Amino acid sequence: MELKDLVAIITGGGKGIGKAIAEKFFSEGARVAIWDIDFPLAKSVTTSLDSSGKKAIAIKVDVTNETEVALAVSEVISQFNRIDILVNNAGISRHKPIEEMTLEIFESVMKVNLTGTFICCRAVAPIMKKQGRGKIINIASLGGRTGRPGVGVNYAASKAGVIGLTQTLARELGPSGIYANAIAPGPILTEQTKQYPPEVFATWNIGRAIMKDGLPEDVADTAIFLASKRSDWITGVTIDLNGGILIR
Ligand SMILES: NC(=O)c1ccc[n+]([C@@H]2O[C@H](COP(=O)([O-])OP(=O)(O)OC[C@H]3O[C@@H](n4cnc5c(N)ncnc54)[C@H](O)[C@@H]3O)[C@@H](O)[C@H]2O)c1
Repeated sequence: MELKDLVAIITGGGKGIGKAIAEKFFSEGARVAIWDIDFPLAKSVTTSLDSSGKKAIAIKVDVTNETEVALAVSEVISQFNRIDILVNNAGISRHKPIEEMTLEIFESVMKVNLTGTFICCRAVAPIMKKQGRGKIINIASLGGRTGRPGVGVNYAASKAGVIGLTQTLARELGPSGIYANAIAPGPILTEQTKQYPPEVFATWNIGRAIMKDGLPEDVADTAIFLASKRSDWITGVTIDLNGGILIR
Protein backbone atom coordinates (compact mmCIF):
# COMPACT_ATOMS: atom_id res chain seq x y z
CA MET A 1 0.00 0.00 0.00
CA GLU A 2 1.73 3.12 -1.29
CA LEU A 3 -0.48 5.69 0.49
CA LYS A 4 -1.41 3.94 3.71
CA ASP A 5 -3.21 6.28 6.15
CA LEU A 6 -2.41 9.40 4.14
CA VAL A 7 -5.21 11.93 3.69
CA ALA A 8 -5.89 13.09 0.14
CA ILE A 9 -8.17 15.75 -1.32
CA ILE A 10 -9.18 15.22 -4.94
CA THR A 11 -11.01 18.12 -6.58
CA GLY A 12 -13.46 17.21 -9.33
CA GLY A 13 -13.34 13.63 -8.05
CA GLY A 14 -16.97 12.86 -8.89
CA LYS A 15 -16.22 11.44 -12.33
CA GLY A 16 -13.63 10.88 -15.03
CA ILE A 17 -9.97 11.21 -14.16
CA GLY A 18 -10.62 12.53 -10.64
CA LYS A 19 -12.82 9.56 -9.81
CA ALA A 20 -10.12 7.12 -10.99
CA ILE A 21 -7.55 8.96 -8.84
CA ALA A 22 -9.84 8.80 -5.79
CA GLU A 23 -10.51 5.08 -6.30
CA LYS A 24 -6.86 4.19 -6.81
CA PHE A 25 -5.71 6.33 -3.86
CA PHE A 26 -8.31 4.62 -1.69
CA SER A 27 -7.17 1.17 -2.78
CA GLU A 28 -3.61 2.20 -1.87
CA GLY A 29 -4.76 2.89 1.69
CA ALA A 30 -5.45 6.64 1.58
CA ARG A 31 -8.41 8.31 3.21
CA VAL A 32 -10.02 10.47 0.56
CA ALA A 33 -12.02 13.69 0.50
CA ILE A 34 -13.76 14.19 -2.82
CA TRP A 35 -14.55 17.80 -3.56
CA ASP A 36 -16.91 18.41 -6.45
CA ILE A 37 -19.31 21.11 -7.55
CA ASP A 38 -21.70 18.22 -8.27
CA PHE A 39 -22.32 16.77 -4.80
CA PRO A 40 -24.43 13.71 -5.83
CA LEU A 41 -21.61 12.59 -8.15
CA ALA A 42 -18.99 12.94 -5.39
CA LYS A 43 -21.27 11.19 -2.90
CA SER A 44 -21.86 8.24 -5.22
CA VAL A 45 -18.10 7.70 -5.44
CA THR A 46 -17.50 7.88 -1.68
CA THR A 47 -20.50 5.64 -0.96
CA SER A 48 -19.17 2.98 -3.30
CA LEU A 49 -15.72 3.22 -1.67
CA ASP A 50 -16.75 3.32 1.99
CA SER A 51 -20.43 3.47 2.93
CA SER A 52 -19.51 4.05 6.60
CA GLY A 53 -18.14 7.50 5.64
CA LYS A 54 -15.13 7.01 7.90
CA LYS A 55 -12.46 6.79 5.20
CA ALA A 56 -14.06 8.59 2.28
CA ILE A 57 -16.02 11.83 2.43
CA ALA A 58 -17.77 13.90 -0.22
CA ILE A 59 -17.95 17.68 0.03
CA LYS A 60 -19.75 20.09 -2.27
CA VAL A 61 -17.14 22.62 -3.31
CA ASP A 62 -16.83 25.06 -6.16
CA VAL A 63 -13.04 25.46 -6.40
CA THR A 64 -13.46 29.06 -7.57
CA ASN A 65 -15.19 30.00 -4.31
CA GLU A 66 -12.68 30.90 -1.57
CA THR A 67 -15.24 30.55 1.22
CA GLU A 68 -16.37 27.09 0.13
CA VAL A 69 -12.76 25.95 -0.22
CA ALA A 70 -11.87 27.26 3.26
CA LEU A 71 -14.90 25.52 4.78
CA ALA A 72 -14.05 22.29 2.99
CA VAL A 73 -10.47 22.40 4.33
CA SER A 74 -11.89 22.77 7.86
CA GLU A 75 -14.21 19.82 7.27
CA VAL A 76 -11.35 17.59 6.10
CA ILE A 77 -9.27 18.58 9.13
CA SER A 78 -12.13 17.93 11.53
CA GLN A 79 -12.76 14.50 9.98
CA PHE A 80 -9.20 13.31 9.26
CA ASN A 81 -6.98 15.69 11.27
CA ARG A 82 -4.44 16.29 8.48
CA ILE A 83 -3.98 16.85 4.73
CA ASP A 84 -1.12 14.99 3.06
CA ILE A 85 -2.07 15.21 -0.61
CA LEU A 86 -3.99 17.71 -2.73
CA VAL A 87 -4.86 16.78 -6.30
CA ASN A 88 -6.13 19.78 -8.26
CA ASN A 89 -8.06 17.93 -10.93
CA ALA A 90 -11.30 19.95 -11.32
CA GLY A 91 -11.31 21.47 -14.77
CA ILE A 92 -13.55 22.50 -17.63
CA SER A 93 -13.16 23.27 -21.31
CA ARG A 94 -15.26 25.57 -23.50
CA HIS A 95 -13.78 25.65 -26.94
CA LYS A 96 -14.50 28.33 -29.53
CA PRO A 97 -12.40 29.68 -32.37
CA ILE A 98 -10.63 32.89 -31.30
CA GLU A 99 -13.01 35.19 -33.20
CA GLU A 100 -15.99 33.70 -31.38
CA MET A 101 -14.43 33.44 -27.95
CA THR A 102 -16.11 35.99 -25.72
CA LEU A 103 -14.36 37.36 -22.65
CA GLU A 104 -16.90 35.46 -20.54
CA ILE A 105 -15.98 32.13 -22.17
CA PHE A 106 -12.25 32.88 -21.90
CA GLU A 107 -12.41 33.89 -18.26
CA SER A 108 -14.76 31.11 -17.12
CA VAL A 109 -12.19 28.46 -18.12
CA MET A 110 -9.28 30.41 -16.65
CA LYS A 111 -11.25 30.75 -13.42
CA VAL A 112 -11.89 27.06 -12.80
CA ASN A 113 -8.64 25.63 -14.21
CA LEU A 114 -6.10 28.19 -13.01
CA THR A 115 -7.66 30.38 -10.32
CA GLY A 116 -9.35 27.35 -8.74
CA THR A 117 -6.01 25.55 -8.59
CA PHE A 118 -4.43 28.61 -6.96
CA ILE A 119 -7.23 28.93 -4.38
CA CYS A 120 -6.95 25.26 -3.35
CA CYS A 121 -3.13 25.34 -3.16
CA ARG A 122 -3.23 28.47 -1.00
CA ALA A 123 -5.83 26.93 1.30
CA VAL A 124 -3.82 23.78 2.10
CA ALA A 125 -0.33 25.32 2.18
CA PRO A 126 -0.44 26.49 5.84
CA ILE A 127 -1.61 23.04 6.98
CA MET A 128 1.06 21.19 5.01
CA LYS A 129 3.66 23.67 6.31
CA LYS A 130 2.64 22.93 9.89
CA GLN A 131 2.91 19.21 9.19
CA GLY A 132 6.34 19.73 7.55
CA ARG A 133 5.27 17.63 4.57
CA GLY A 134 2.73 17.55 1.76
CA LYS A 135 2.32 16.64 -1.88
CA ILE A 136 0.45 18.82 -4.37
CA ILE A 137 -0.40 17.38 -7.77
CA ASN A 138 -1.89 19.63 -10.42
CA ILE A 139 -3.60 18.18 -13.47
CA ALA A 140 -2.45 20.21 -16.46
CA SER A 141 -2.81 19.04 -20.08
CA LEU A 142 -0.93 18.39 -23.28
CA GLY A 143 -2.84 21.48 -24.45
CA GLY A 144 -0.77 23.55 -22.01
CA ARG A 145 2.51 22.04 -23.25
CA THR A 146 2.21 22.58 -26.97
CA GLY A 147 -0.21 24.17 -29.39
CA ARG A 148 -3.11 21.81 -30.06
CA PRO A 149 -5.96 22.12 -32.50
CA GLY A 150 -9.43 22.20 -30.99
CA VAL A 151 -8.63 22.85 -27.33
CA GLY A 152 -9.24 26.59 -27.32
CA VAL A 153 -6.80 29.34 -26.35
CA ASN A 154 -8.53 29.69 -22.97
CA TYR A 155 -7.96 26.03 -22.05
CA ALA A 156 -4.37 26.01 -23.37
CA ALA A 157 -3.53 29.24 -21.50
CA SER A 158 -5.10 27.97 -18.27
CA LYS A 159 -3.13 24.71 -18.38
CA ALA A 160 0.16 26.45 -19.30
CA GLY A 161 -0.61 28.67 -16.29
CA VAL A 162 -1.03 25.61 -14.09
CA ILE A 163 2.45 24.43 -15.13
CA GLY A 164 4.00 27.83 -14.29
CA LEU A 165 2.13 27.97 -10.99
CA THR A 166 3.40 24.48 -10.13
CA GLN A 167 7.04 25.39 -10.82
CA THR A 168 7.00 28.48 -8.62
CA LEU A 169 4.97 26.76 -5.92
CA ALA A 170 7.61 24.01 -5.81
CA ARG A 171 10.33 26.61 -5.21
CA GLU A 172 8.30 28.50 -2.59
CA LEU A 173 7.13 25.49 -0.59
CA GLY A 174 9.98 23.00 -1.12
CA PRO A 175 11.99 24.24 1.88
CA SER A 176 8.91 23.46 4.04
CA GLY A 177 8.81 19.86 2.84
CA ILE A 178 5.99 20.43 0.37
CA TYR A 179 6.23 19.06 -3.16
CA ALA A 180 4.39 20.46 -6.17
CA ASN A 181 4.26 18.59 -9.45
CA ALA A 182 1.95 18.46 -12.44
CA ILE A 183 0.69 15.80 -14.82
CA ALA A 184 -0.04 16.80 -18.41
CA PRO A 185 -2.29 14.12 -19.93
CA GLY A 186 -2.97 13.84 -23.62
CA PRO A 187 -6.40 12.60 -24.75
CA ILE A 188 -7.94 10.38 -22.08
CA LEU A 189 -11.01 8.22 -22.64
CA THR A 190 -13.61 9.38 -20.12
CA GLU A 191 -17.42 9.41 -20.24
CA GLN A 192 -17.09 12.94 -21.60
CA THR A 193 -14.53 12.28 -24.35
CA LYS A 194 -16.37 9.05 -25.28
CA GLN A 195 -19.23 11.26 -26.44
CA TYR A 196 -17.10 12.33 -29.41
CA PRO A 197 -17.09 10.05 -32.47
CA PRO A 198 -14.08 7.66 -32.44
CA GLU A 199 -12.70 9.35 -35.57
CA VAL A 200 -12.54 12.67 -33.70
CA PHE A 201 -10.79 11.04 -30.72
CA ALA A 202 -8.39 9.47 -33.25
CA THR A 203 -7.45 12.89 -34.65
CA TRP A 204 -6.47 14.02 -31.13
CA ASN A 205 -4.10 11.03 -31.01
CA ILE A 206 -2.27 11.64 -34.26
CA GLY A 207 1.46 11.08 -33.77
CA ARG A 208 1.03 8.72 -30.82
CA ALA A 209 3.85 6.18 -30.43
CA ILE A 210 1.95 3.78 -28.13
CA MET A 211 -1.21 2.39 -29.73
CA LYS A 212 -3.16 1.95 -26.48
CA ASP A 213 -5.73 4.67 -25.65
CA GLY A 214 -5.07 6.82 -22.58
CA LEU A 215 -7.32 5.87 -19.64
CA PRO A 216 -8.18 7.67 -16.38
CA GLU A 217 -6.32 4.84 -14.58
CA ASP A 218 -3.09 5.81 -16.42
CA VAL A 219 -3.33 9.29 -14.90
CA ALA A 220 -4.19 7.81 -11.50
CA ASP A 221 -1.11 5.55 -11.53
CA THR A 222 1.15 8.56 -12.17
CA ALA A 223 -0.66 10.47 -9.42
CA ILE A 224 0.05 7.61 -6.97
CA PHE A 225 3.73 7.87 -7.82
CA LEU A 226 3.77 11.64 -7.27
CA ALA A 227 1.80 11.30 -4.02
CA SER A 228 4.03 8.59 -2.57
CA LYS A 229 7.51 8.49 -1.07
CA ARG A 230 8.81 7.06 -4.36
CA SER A 231 8.89 10.59 -5.80
CA ASP A 232 10.66 12.27 -2.87
CA TRP A 233 13.40 13.72 -5.08
CA ILE A 234 10.99 15.17 -7.64
CA THR A 235 9.41 18.61 -7.44
CA GLY A 236 8.45 21.34 -9.89
CA VAL A 237 8.15 18.75 -12.65
CA THR A 238 5.38 18.21 -15.21
CA ILE A 239 5.05 14.59 -16.27
CA ASP A 240 3.87 14.19 -19.86
CA LEU A 241 1.41 11.35 -20.20
CA ASN A 242 0.40 10.99 -23.81
CA GLY A 243 1.60 7.71 -25.30
CA GLY A 244 4.35 9.57 -27.11
CA ILE A 245 2.25 12.18 -28.94
CA LEU A 246 4.76 14.70 -27.59
CA ILE A 247 8.34 13.50 -27.35
CA ARG A 248 11.02 16.09 -26.68
N1 LIG B 1 -10.17 13.91 -20.46
C1 LIG B 1 -9.07 14.31 -21.10
O1 LIG B 1 -8.81 13.90 -22.23
C2 LIG B 1 -8.11 15.25 -20.41
C3 LIG B 1 -6.86 15.46 -21.00
C4 LIG B 1 -5.96 16.32 -20.38
C5 LIG B 1 -6.29 16.95 -19.19
N2 LIG B 1 -7.51 16.73 -18.64
C6 LIG B 1 -7.81 17.40 -17.37
O2 LIG B 1 -8.08 16.44 -16.40
C7 LIG B 1 -9.02 16.96 -15.44
C8 LIG B 1 -10.22 16.03 -15.35
O3 LIG B 1 -10.77 15.89 -16.64
P1 LIG B 1 -12.00 14.89 -16.95
O4 LIG B 1 -11.93 14.62 -18.40
O5 LIG B 1 -11.99 13.78 -15.98
O6 LIG B 1 -13.22 15.89 -16.69
P2 LIG B 1 -14.76 15.57 -16.31
O7 LIG B 1 -15.56 16.66 -16.92
O8 LIG B 1 -15.10 14.15 -16.64
O9 LIG B 1 -14.76 15.73 -14.71
C9 LIG B 1 -14.47 16.97 -14.13
C10 LIG B 1 -15.05 17.00 -12.72
O10 LIG B 1 -14.76 18.30 -12.19
C11 LIG B 1 -15.94 18.82 -11.57
N3 LIG B 1 -15.90 20.28 -11.60
C12 LIG B 1 -16.05 21.10 -12.67
N4 LIG B 1 -15.98 22.38 -12.29
C13 LIG B 1 -15.77 22.38 -10.94
C14 LIG B 1 -15.61 23.40 -9.98
N5 LIG B 1 -15.69 24.70 -10.30
N6 LIG B 1 -15.40 23.04 -8.69
C15 LIG B 1 -15.36 21.73 -8.33
N7 LIG B 1 -15.51 20.72 -9.21
C16 LIG B 1 -15.72 21.05 -10.50
C17 LIG B 1 -17.09 18.25 -12.40
O11 LIG B 1 -18.33 18.26 -11.69
C18 LIG B 1 -16.59 16.84 -12.70
O12 LIG B 1 -16.95 15.92 -11.69
C19 LIG B 1 -9.36 18.36 -15.93
O13 LIG B 1 -8.56 19.31 -15.28
C20 LIG B 1 -9.03 18.31 -17.41
O14 LIG B 1 -8.74 19.57 -17.95
C21 LIG B 1 -8.44 15.90 -19.22
